[in-house]
Amino acid sequence: MAPANGHGRSDAEAGGAATEPRKKNRTKCFLYIALFVIFQIGVITIFSLTVMKIRTPKFRIRSAHLTNFNAGTPASPSFSATVNAEFTVKNANFGRYKYRNTTVDFFYRGTPVGQVLVRDSRAGWRSTKKFNVAVNLSLTNAQANPQLASDLNAGVVQISSQARMRGRVELIFVMKKNKSTDMNCTMEIVTATQQLRNILCK
Ligand SMILES: *[C@@H]1O[C@H](CO)[C@@H](O)[C@H](O)[C@H]1NC(C)=O
Ligand SMILES: *[C@@H]1O[C@H](CO)[C@@H](O)[C@H](O)[C@H]1NC(C)=O
Ligand SMILES: *[C@@H]1O[C@H](CO)[C@@H](O)[C@H](O)[C@H]1NC(C)=O
Ligand SMILES: *[C@@H]1O[C@H](CO)[C@@H](O)[C@H](O)[C@H]1NC(C)=O
Repeated sequence: MAPANGHGRSDAEAGGAATEPRKKNRTKCFLYIALFVIFQIGVITIFSLTVMKIRTPKFRIRSAHLTNFNAGTPASPSFSATVNAEFTVKNANFGRYKYRNTTVDFFYRGTPVGQVLVRDSRAGWRSTKKFNVAVNLSLTNAQANPQLASDLNAGVVQISSQARMRGRVELIFVMKKNKSTDMNCTMEIVTATQQLRNILCK
């Protein structure tokens, strides 16, 4: 009466003594598979937390200096200046960041005083792209800015810059994800020395 299933037959052939090691082998085998699965899950988790993780690039003003600063008279306060800024796009992703044309706006106490276009380009994977841009700032409408006279008198003019850069991160060339980043910086023009100081970006 030969049993239909293979186990029964081989047990019969090998004799009862073979059953124990076979069970042990099977247990070992399952253990290896379980360990392998856990290992794989670990590898995938680490991979997704590092290489595959999408980080928001940082768009900032790294440094800047001033040329052609002109202040109006106390009777008619105004200012104009050229800001020569070094911008950076820091990309911490394991894939390049392609960004689109981006407008950077400059403000004095909420009033627009200048604008500059940053051309579309790309920042390589895990690198910081740097470029220099010159922008002319000017504010003439003193009536709308009653603070300007006292700021010029005090010798410090607060400027802020804002921008939203849109683009996409390309992970391992295939996975693409849109990612935008905001610039939000403040700086101070010191009129006496015609310098820009305290450049702070969030
Ligand atoms: C980006 O700006 C440049 C210069 O103004 C323009 O020639 C180009 O067509 C713009 N690119 C896009 C995608 O709008
Ligand atoms: C800024 O203004 C100066 C003259 O005041 C001009 O020569 C220069 O081309 C302007 N720069 C930009 C970026 O508009
Ligand atoms: C990503 O941005 C592009 C424009 O650059 C747009 O056409 C596309 O629909 C966006 N994709 C998603 C998923 O938002
Ligand atoms: C920029 O900073 C100003 C002042 O702290 C804040 O009101 C504004 O919401 C910020 N904008 C962005 C885009 O983060």
